[in-house]
Amino acid sequence: MGPPRPAFHERECVALLELKNLHVALEDGTEIVKGVDLSVDTGEIHAVMGPNGSGKSTLAYALMGHPAYEITEGQIFFDGDDVTELEADKRAQRGLFLAFQYPHAIPGVTVTSFLRSAINAIRKARSGGADDPVPIPEFRKEMMAAMERLKIPRELAQRYLNDGFSGGEKKRVEILQMAMLKPRIAVLDETDSGLDIDALRIVAGGVRDLVGPEMGALVITHYQRILSYIKPDFVHVFVDGRVVADGGPELAHTLEADGYEAFMPVPAVGSKE
Ligand SMILES: Nc1ncnc2c1ncn2[C@@H]1O[C@H](COP(=O)(O)OP(=O)(O)O)[C@@H](O)[C@H]1O
Ligand SMILES: [Mg+2]
Repeated sequence: MGPPRPAFHERECVALLELKNLHVALEDGTEIVKGVDLSVDTGEIHAVMGPNGSGKSTLAYALMGHPAYEITEGQIFFDGDDVTELEADKRAQRGLFLAFQYPHAIPGVTVTSFLRSAINAIRKARSGGADDPVPIPEFRKEMMAAMERLKIPRELAQRYLNDGFSGGEKKRVEILQMAMLKPRIAVLDETDSGLDIDALRIVAGGVRDLVGPEMGALVITHYQRILSYIKPDFVHVFVDGRVVADGGPELAHTLEADGYEAFMPVPAVGSKE
């Protein structure tokens, strides 16, 4: 069904994260994601752009192994292993990280202690359950270095998590968490909420800063404007549960100018190159 896959999917090297013909259904059986092929490697920034309700968050949740989203067909490969059936925490251990989309305020928990427990949970899982918490001085040193690198004000570390945080502050913590957990592929599901220009710049700057030989990123959003900040290497247009066009940064300009209408229902394949 649909147009032939572009050459992007025919490259020979196997990327760190590979989605093959992924179909995802809700608990009531409704199919939301209808056959997605994607590959994301370290050193790459991919943007999946689609209108509201197209199934982007469903794709993100399925990627992370959320139990409410059932993969009915197709596979997810991570580092060459089939992780389609793997539980969420096992995926996280391997280095697939989903930035929290709806961060909750946690009374009495500071950003510092939240990050420390997140890191300890990952360490514990990686060491096969042995209790091996990161020593506090070491943790503090690492956190301070990451905050400096990401230009995050020090006072944020002592505040209670998301308690009265602005959109920009939430994004700073999200990026800081990413820097500390050092995922191999980071999945960021960006909704409109809190995405003012300040927040956009923080996310974009953080992603650009952290993506490199050790990390790749998949940024999912309907907010076209984010692309001019993030400058993705690859853009995938996502409509009604399917990737309908793949391209480089130039696709972002088409989106910016014409919106998603240009990709409904037939992809603008001819406009590439
Ligand atoms: N947990 C859920 N329960 C019921 N419906 C859901 C659930 N998750 C997603 N949906 C439905 O799936 C469709 C796609 O939603 P979503 O993946 O959130 O799209 P997007 O992130 O692109 O806006 C929508 O119709 C939404 O109502
Ligand atoms: Mg969404």
